[in-house]
Amino acid sequence: MSEVQKIRLLQITDLHFGKTPQCLVNHVNPVMTFNAILDDIDRLRWHKDIIILSGDLSGIESYKSYKILNKILKCRDKKIIWLPGNHDNVTDMIKYLKDFPRIISMALQNWSVITLDTSQPNSPVGYIHADELQMLERQLVKMKDKFIIIAMHHCPALVGSRWLDKHRVKNHSDFFKILSNHKNIKGIFTGHVHQKFEGICKDIAVYTTPSSCFQFEPNSQKYEISETLPGYRWLHLFDDGTLETGVNYVSAKLTG
Ligand SMILES: [Fe+2]
Repeated sequence: MSEVQKIRLLQITDLHFGKTPQCLVNHVNPVMTFNAILDDIDRLRWHKDIIILSGDLSGIESYKSYKILNKILKCRDKKIIWLPGNHDNVTDMIKYLKDFPRIISMALQNWSVITLDTSQPNSPVGYIHADELQMLERQLVKMKDKFIIIAMHHCPALVGSRWLDKHRVKNHSDFFKILSNHKNIKGIFTGHVHQKFEGICKDIAVYTTPSSCFQFEPNSQKYEISETLPGYRWLHLFDDGTLETGVNYVSAKLTG
């Protein structure tokens, strides 16, 4: 009997790098925790797998964050797909992640990953621009024979945390209306909420992933930092369209 083939993808999100590798954010060194996550991936022998970096790669819209990140990814020989978050500057990302050009979509055997930019200037709230929605429609038509996953920074679903739910993709109904014409979408993977969440919205599975540095308290009414460890998500994509996913947390020395 032939074995079902699978592809593994990894998602690391909300890196929040600063201007130097020594900068701390909420008492955590984000470069150190990101490296600890890459170490964990190496330990599992997943080092050759493609990593989706789903926004807030900088925490302060600094080109210096991208220079630091480019160097780490190049030294560690990583394959990545990146997209911006609300703390990023896309122009600087394109310029300073110089060894990692922006990839909008990627076909992987029976599967395809489509990335979306949900960031808007000077706002933490998600919004998908009309051009971006048109691009999504075009990609979905082009990839109609593939199983699809969508990666984006902001969550289009409510996660049960009042202050974070205000940042939900504002035009989520336009987004889901487009998706409703396609029955091959297997999951939406986001960042921004700095916590693990798994739910269903408009019949589509929605997954959020913990930050690679600090987490927010789930189900909180207001901004509240949690003691939960840095984490990342793994995805197993089987060639019959089955998707398995889970989150690994990393016990790292958090400050340097
Ligand atoms: Fe973030």
